[in-house]
Amino acid sequence: MPEVEAVVFMNGDYVAASQAKVSIFDSGFLYGDGVFDTSSAWNGFIFKLDEHVERLLRSCHAVRMDVPYTAAELRQAHIETVARNNLTNAYIKCIVTRGIKDPPTLDPRGREAGVFIFAKPYIRLVEEGDDGGINAKISSVRRIPMAALDPKIKTLDYLNLVMAKFDAIDAGADDAILCDTEGYVCEGPGYNIFIVSNGEVVTPADTVLMGITRETVIEIAREKGLDVAERRFSPFELYTADEAFFSTTAGGVIPIVSVDGRTVGSGERGPITRSISERYWDMLETGEHGTEVLSNRGIGS
Ligand SMILES: Cc1ncc(COP(=O)(O)O)c(C=O)c1O
Repeated sequence: MPEVEAVVFMNGDYVAASQAKVSIFDSGFLYGDGVFDTSSAWNGFIFKLDEHVERLLRSCHAVRMDVPYTAAELRQAHIETVARNNLTNAYIKCIVTRGIKDPPTLDPRGREAGVFIFAKPYIRLVEEGDDGGINAKISSVRRIPMAALDPKIKTLDYLNLVMAKFDAIDAGADDAILCDTEGYVCEGPGYNIFIVSNGEVVTPADTVLMGITRETVIEIAREKGLDVAERRFSPFELYTADEAFFSTTAGGVIPIVSVDGRTVGSGERGPITRSISERYWDMLETGEHGTEVLSNRGIGS
């Protein structure tokens, strides 16, 4: 089959990726003044599409950006972008920027938001072997506190997380974990974090992005009869946990096998991590909570 050029959604049009150009005067480029959301398609179904669109709109509302599309239109644009790129398993990103203004100052008024969506073959942020996992480092870079910019907003400005990632890479670790300014564990650069201690599944309650995979992990854990607590925990609790894992749309449930040179639990993917991960992939495989791309094309548009 001849290779089809990738197509992206740009402010209502579907444009060849090579032709999709955003102005250097765009506020997203100039100031990181914009938000985004990352979703995924698996086996032809977009997982929790409504939840992703709602989270995107909440981010827009929090940063006072008016989106020129309804939730139904954004939903349809996601479906259409995946369909036009002939993707079965996809990594989907929707970006909303505050837009362009002349002169291009920080003044946020008088702009029209730009909306862009692209879909790529499914991306895993981290690769891990069957029984392997992540050797993580707690970064000296602290997560931006809620009082400065709430991490629940999925802002375009990811420099805080990129700096933490450099810190981990420089130390020879696979990935970073960021703590808040008081020293409690928050999240990773693109992942929420969980620990399992004495059968209880624990994840930070605040100063983190409310991940859709995080929410799914909590649902699965409860469905399995496990106790779940959303509360802060310290690096000590992480070092001494029975199991630890990251959760993300781009890869699912990823075991953390060591932190700062301390083995976590058995140093392998633990049984609860495994069973939650299996149920997660089962949901994706079967289209549970999924919106089928082909049968939903053109609906409501
Ligand atoms: C900072 C941060 N935390 C957590 C997550 C995980 O969220 P989700 O499960 O919705 O992918 C992401 C995903 O992009 C993220 O960027």
